[in-house]
Amino acid sequence: MRVLSGIQPTGRFHWGNYFGAIRQYIDFQDQHEAYYFIANLHALTTVREPEVLRSYTLDAALDLLALGLNPNKATLFVQSDVPEVSQLCWLLMTGTPLGLLERCHAYKEKKARGLTADAGLFTYPVLMAADILAFDSNWVPVGEDQVQHIEVCRDLARSFNHLYGKEAFVLPEAKITVDAAKVPGTDGQKMSKSYDNTLAIFEDAKQQRKKIMRITTDSRPMDQAKDPDTDHLYQLFKLLAPTAQVEEMAALYRRGGFGYGEVKKSLADAAENYFAEPRARRAELEARPQEVREILAAGAAVARRKAADVLGRVEDACGIRYQK
Ligand code: TRP
Repeated sequence: MRVLSGIQPTGRFHWGNYFGAIRQYIDFQDQHEAYYFIANLHALTTVREPEVLRSYTLDAALDLLALGLNPNKATLFVQSDVPEVSQLCWLLMTGTPLGLLERCHAYKEKKARGLTADAGLFTYPVLMAADILAFDSNWVPVGEDQVQHIEVCRDLARSFNHLYGKEAFVLPEAKITVDAAKVPGTDGQKMSKSYDNTLAIFEDAKQQRKKIMRITTDSRPMDQAKDPDTDHLYQLFKLLAPTAQVEEMAALYRRGGFGYGEVKKSLADAAENYFAEPRARRAELEARPQEVREILAAGAAVARRKAADVLGRVEDACGIRYQK
């Protein structure tokens, strides 16, 4: 299967991004032909400072490589390095009913809050459809919140195929990743940039420890026994610690008589261990920016070849290639 997914470079990746998405994307690289890209054109709808967008884009590449994305197994590229995607986006745009986009949640929510949306946000799902269709993608691993966009993509592909009487596009399927809501943030709500409760994966270790020590906890006396599964500190610990330690911790909760401070310390240790290797790998990569540039250039070359093929086929189908 050809698997493709994109990640917006809108900030440093956090634990929610990793456990809710990135880890699951990367897992596909072993069994399938995987394409992963950094969606900087999409990010442009929200990140308006050039220096910031540049650094988020490179940080995203470093983070993904450090976390185990293997450029010998998967194709990693930056969206804007494959202009065929934007060309395809226009072709799709000509067949996109406004009503379809008016129903999409990002736009709808912005409007509902009384804000004015620009055409970039409004047509965001069309560019996303182009991302997917440009590579004849079969599977698209995404979070639940992106399923609507995959449906839009399928609609557009279907009606294009119908209109031009050819199998111009391959219909993709969403592969929904486990709910990121299972990764609580420092306030116990779902970890999300918009709640300002994130723990970044590659945050400075000392600073991260401080943040962990400040995670909000409930005010029940600590000598009371407690169901671990209802506690967000435990939920985080469970993601990061080895099974034996998780079991021990669960027993401690059920027995009672412990302090949250101890749990937080164990959590900080577990996080440090869990991300120690990626952290070291990231430092190495950071010292070799030329290598990262080469990886992205090689990825873009592979991606462009594939996208050019598909674009040609589609241009042919709709009569844009006018010389036979
Ligand atoms: N919209 C996706 C998100 O915010 C990112 C994205 C852009 C994407 N293009 C894509 C995901 C294509 C999958 C396939 O998470």
